[in-house]
Amino acid sequence: MDKFLIHGPTRLEGSVANSTAKNAVLPILAACLLAEEPCVIHEVPLLEDVNTMARLLRSMGVKVTLRRRTMEIVAGGDIEHTADYDIVRKMRASYYVLGPLLARFGDARVSLPGGCAIGPRPVDLHLKGIAALGAEVKLEHGYIHATGRPLRGGTMLLEGASGPSVGATANTMMAASLAGGETVIEAAACEPEVIDLAGFLIAMGAKIEGQGTPVIKIKGVKRLHGAEYRPIPDRIEAGTLAVAAAITRGNLEITNCEPEHLTAVIDRLRQAGATVETGKRRLIVSAGKRPEPVTIATAPYPGFPTDLQAQFTALLAIGRGASVVTENVFEARFMHVLELNRMGAKIDINGRTAVIQGVEQLSGAQVMASDLRASAALVLAGLAARGDTEVQRIYHLDRGYESLELKLGGVGAKIERVSY
Ligand code: EPU
Repeated sequence: MDKFLIHGPTRLEGSVANSTAKNAVLPILAACLLAEEPCVIHEVPLLEDVNTMARLLRSMGVKVTLRRRTMEIVAGGDIEHTADYDIVRKMRASYYVLGPLLARFGDARVSLPGGCAIGPRPVDLHLKGIAALGAEVKLEHGYIHATGRPLRGGTMLLEGASGPSVGATANTMMAASLAGGETVIEAAACEPEVIDLAGFLIAMGAKIEGQGTPVIKIKGVKRLHGAEYRPIPDRIEAGTLAVAAAITRGNLEITNCEPEHLTAVIDRLRQAGATVETGKRRLIVSAGKRPEPVTIATAPYPGFPTDLQAQFTALLAIGRGASVVTENVFEARFMHVLELNRMGAKIDINGRTAVIQGVEQLSGAQVMASDLRASAALVLAGLAARGDTEVQRIYHLDRGYESLELKLGGVGAKIERVSY
């Protein structure tokens, strides 16, 4: 296992390049199952979750090759229709193969994912989506077994207790692309990653309208063909780097990002007193003093992203007063708080709400990462804290941030990866 050793406090300054979006690439790789012909995906981020998706596709007989950052996926020939427990339990996004396998082969067996560090994550809306397309869905021995061919278009409301679902919208959109007739997804997720998946499916020959709005319409086609695509930049990594600038009172230019996807994030950074300039595919973020207190409530896009809640909690932990952060998307996503408190933060959790009393400075400590974004929050806290911070279990971080220590080290952080 690896850990990070961070010596703080440091002030970050310079230019740092953001990577392609993990959460756009994962469904796009699964969508390659919809065609027999080769698909080519450019600028793939070199991440553990991308490796896991490649491993899953290979385990089904798909040919996956990676040259530099270009991945070629060929799902011709004999394809297994099963996603095994061993892979699904490591990465929930394995679920994205359900819709494509079902639509192309009329048969998909996908293990139920099991527990998750950020709270209960049911798959009922994924199943509701494919059932509305005429699939028969059974639970057998820990696996979802979905059958039915041809699928037929249907109208469905994909809304859960916390609002729309990114994953269920994506899965249903993929399956509906090869169903007979028209599908209407109501209460669809509006995230940029859903729009990007629709863009890739359209490049494969799908007929989709309304992506980016709560009503998506899909006219099924008989077959999809191979396509070449470059997915969008990672808005969560860009937001994390922006917080790195603010928490270290530094000045960072973040390139290869899409400021339009970060409206709520930029708004909260400015409320916290940071200066944010936006340009074509870049952001410049600087801060000169402790952050002002801010109120944040996570929400589906275009609201404030749950995937940046932990990082902003770390920032507001050194704020000049009391901030309130409410987590509305994943009910138990506060594992980072106990670790931040070990670094001297004063944060109380009450149900879905964290009340943060800002302290002047955090102090370095040994801390343990519990999930991807919690790990990022601890690294950010370590950059601002006085003394040495050791972030253990950074395999969580490697799932979704490519070489974060090199990116931060390149703009002045004293951060080192150590194997233990
Ligand atoms: N939900 C249901 N039923 C379902 C599916 C979801 O009730 O069948 C609930 C969830 O429990 C949650 C809410 O709906 O309360 C939203 O979940 P969603 O389905 O939108 O999340 P997801 O598709 O599983 C993706 C990202 C997450 C990100 C969420 C929300 C990927 C691979 N994952 O998950 O990213 O937090 O959308 O934006 O795209 C991360 O990158 O760290 C991460 C967790």
